Parts: sequence; structure tokens; C-alpha cells
Amino acid sequence: MTSWTSVNIEAGRAQAPLLVLASARRVRAPAAIAERVSATLRAVGFAAQPGCWLDLIGQEDISARIVVVAVADDTAKGRWRETGGHIVAALRALGLPAARLPAATDLDIGEHFTSLIEGVLLHGFSPDRGRNTRHFEDRDHLLLVAAEDLVLVEHARQRADPVNRARAWVNQPANLLTPAVFADEAEAALTPLGITVHQLGPEALSEIGARGLLAVASGSDNPPRLTLAEWRGTPDRPEWDVALVGKGLTFDAGRLNLKVPPVINMMKLDMAGGAAVLGAIERLARRKAAMNVVAVVPMAENLIDGKGYRPGDVITSLAGLTIEVLDTDAEGRIVLADGIAYAISRYLPATVIDVATLTGAVTSVLHEDFAGLFTADDALADELIRAGGETGEAVWRLPLVPAQDYLVESIAADVANLGTPGLFGLGARGPVAGAKFIEKFTAGCRWAHLDIAGTAWATRPSSRSGPGPTGFGVALLDRWIDMAGKTA
Ligand code: BES
Ligand code: MN
Ligand code: ZN
Repeated sequence: MTSWTSVNIEAGRAQAPLLVLASARRVRAPAAIAERVSATLRAVGFAAQPGCWLDLIGQEDISARIVVVAVADDTAKGRWRETGGHIVAALRALGLPAARLPAATDLDIGEHFTSLIEGVLLHGFSPDRGRNTRHFEDRDHLLLVAAEDLVLVEHARQRADPVNRARAWVNQPANLLTPAVFADEAEAALTPLGITVHQLGPEALSEIGARGLLAVASGSDNPPRLTLAEWRGTPDRPEWDVALVGKGLTFDAGRLNLKVPPVINMMKLDMAGGAAVLGAIERLARRKAAMNVVAVVPMAENLIDGKGYRPGDVITSLAGLTIEVLDTDAEGRIVLADGIAYAISRYLPATVIDVATLTGAVTSVLHEDFAGLFTADDALADELIRAGGETGEAVWRLPLVPAQDYLVESIAADVANLGTPGLFGLGARGPVAGAKFIEKFTAGCRWAHLDIAGTAWATRPSSRSGPGPTGFGVALLDRWIDMAGKTA
């Protein structure tokens, strides 16, 4: 007798319909019913195109109901995540509160079972329920799994929960998720997992000279934070392997260079890079990765106000480099400059990766389909591209060469926060200038920059998620660290 237990919550509900997976070639179901379901699918001419499903009544016994979900014949990991999405879509379309998934052995999908459940959890996340970040699990659609599969389900949760937590944070409106709330929620979520979290508030930031972060935050009554989340997977080794730095603007109005709708209405998403690096740290801790990694998140709100900084100002950054503020809406690179400089001086990491919703312009080239990748290190570029290929978070490398240093030259300071306009004036707001600016603060460290302005929020469904916040970067960074740890 199979006993059922729930992926989301609550066990029980044995009357829930049974799910069966069918490709053009085979039916994946408990042996007792596989032949009968195959015959029925042949009889009705079910075209097993991924995304299709069929509701069968009275097949298992007179009262039972079977839902057939079509799957592809190839068995790449990403395919099974996508199938998880198709299961969620079928349950939603049928208005089913719950369904039973046959045991992994009956489905005969081996380790892919974990990817399937991961897909269910990722696609089961609904953004309108994300207002409370502590309840990001979708409670509408329960999937009941065999008790023997619970360990695999736990692995899937380890992977999906941190992504969904990041998505729920991104979904939070800026009036509810201020920098202080974001930092407190990160501390509350990560500390129980063995991660050490520190928060630096305005006084500490003045002491360390984080004038860039303070300048960006100065137009808001919500004080900034520099949040540090340390995972020491090899505590006996003093070195830090990686620093992940994420842009944490809980809102970006653009300040005196004020944004207008529709872009300004979306600017609660401007902390997606910060959410991504915190999610990545959570995944490392949950799988007890044998690496020493710190996430550094400068958190602030870029509001319009008479106080503080304005276009034309020159500010001295934490690194000591002076910044000419040509545009108060190019605030992300300023807070990252301080975050990266702090990460390098405090942790001396072997590699720094920053993740940021940095430029709207990256979307005119890469759309929502790829994050922009910038690094001078070819091996690091290849690793990140490969990691993203595996997790379904595509990145595309864009140029970062010394010949373009002129893009961020300034007459008034060491570096300008707006690019050189060029003949058509369009160069100023480009992603390359953003990457060039950040590079100035990396002190020659092995470094890569991911511009996720286009990939943090989806307007169309993908293999990993439905529309809304995507959690882009969480799985990719975890996967990359896993791969890097194995080759090191
Ligand atoms: N947070 C924005 C970038 C952004 C725009 C993210 C649209 C997601 C969607 C960033 O701070 C910004 O304002 N960037 C400027 C570039 C800068 C050089 C003025 C932009 O995109 O215009
Ligand atoms: Mn901005
Ligand atoms: Zn911004």
C-alpha cells in the first residue's frame, strides 16, 4: 500500500486524482494501470504534446480519476522542471485542489524526479500571494507524493524555496519592504541555517566611509543597510572563495532624474540582485556547500527629495575613488561600488560576482531572455554561461575591453556614473558603461557582472517560472559555485 504525503502542506486526501505522465512513446504510471491508460490514450488519439493534458474518469476503478499530463521524450533536466509547470497548469485549469503523483520508481525517472518537483514548486509560486514573504508557498495546489520519495522532495525544496523566497521579496511593494525590513527578513530567514548575518546601518556606514551608499539613500526617510550574509562551508580554512554582491534598491524613483511610468511603477524590483545573492547563499547553506561565500547587499531607496545628492555632485566612494554624479538615476553602480569595495577589503575573496538590475538598455539587446554578462576573465565567463545553461537561466556575454575605458571618463572626478553619449547620444545609458564603472572598483580582482534588468521580472512564462518575479540568479550562482568547488 502506498501512503501519501503532501509536497506543499497537509497529508491525506487519498481521493485526489492520480497523475500520469505520457509522451508520444510511453506512459509513466504504476504498472497496474499503465497498460489500460496506454490503450485509452491510443483509443482517443491523445497527442502527447508537452503542455497538453487529459482528464480521465473511471479508469483506475469506478470512482477514480486520472489526469494525464503530456511530457517530452527527451529527458534533459530543464524539461522535467518544465513538466512540473505543466502539472501545475493542468491542476489549475481543472480547479483541482490536489492530485497524487505516482512514486518515482513507478514514473521511472530516477534523479529527474527532483527536477520535476522543483518545477512544481517554482511554477506553483503565484506572485499575488507573495505579499507576505513568509508564506510564499502556493497553498492552492497540493501535490501528494509517495512517502518513499520524501527525501527527493526535500532536495527539490532545498532548491526551489530559496528561489521562491527571492521572488517573494522582489514582489513585495516598496512601502512594505524597506531596506531595514529587507535586512531583518534576510537575517530572520538565513540565521537559522547557520549563516551569519551582519547589518551595517547609517552610523556604521559613515564610519567605514560608504558615502556612495549614503548619498543614494539620502533622499529617503528609510535608512540604508549594508547587509552581509556569511556562509562558511569550510570553517577551518580562513580564505573566502566568493563574494556575491547584489544591488538592493528597494525602490528607484531616479531622484531628480525622475523616472516616469510605466518604468517607475515597476521599480520595487530594483532589489532583485540583492534577493538573488541572498537566495544563492540560502541554497549553499541548505546543501551544506564546502565553500566559504559571503553575500553583500547594499540596500537603499532612491527617492526624490531636496536633501543630499544631485546631478553634478562629486562624492568620494568607500574605495577612495571620486564619482561624478551625472545622473541620479544611475544609482545602482554607486551602491555596488561601495558594496564591492567593502567586500574586497573585508573578505579578500578569490572571485567577486555582482548581480544587478542595472540598465533598462540591456533589455533592448537581450530582451527578457538573457542576462548581460561582463567579465575580462574568459574561463569565468564560460563557467557562468555553462551554469546558467544547466539551470535554465541564460546569460549572454557582452564586451568589456580596455579600449572602452573612455566610456566612464570624467573631467570633475575619477569616474563618471553616466556613459559617454557618442554620436547618437544613446551610449550614455548603456549596460557596457555600467559594467565599466563597476570594474573601476574591483581592484583587479577576478570579477564578473550580471545585468539582470531584463530577466528579473518576466512578462511571459518560461521553463522555470510563470510571469512575474523570476528569482533569476539564485540557481545559477549556486550551480556555478558547485561546479567551481569541484574543479578547484
Ligand atoms: N534600476 C534602473 C534600471 C532598470 C530599468 C531596471 C528598467 C529594470 C527595468 C537603474 O537604476 C537605472 O535607472 N538605470 C538607468 C541607466 C543610467 C545610466 C541612467 C536606465 O536604465 O536608464
Ligand atoms: Mn536608477
Ligand atoms: Zn536602479
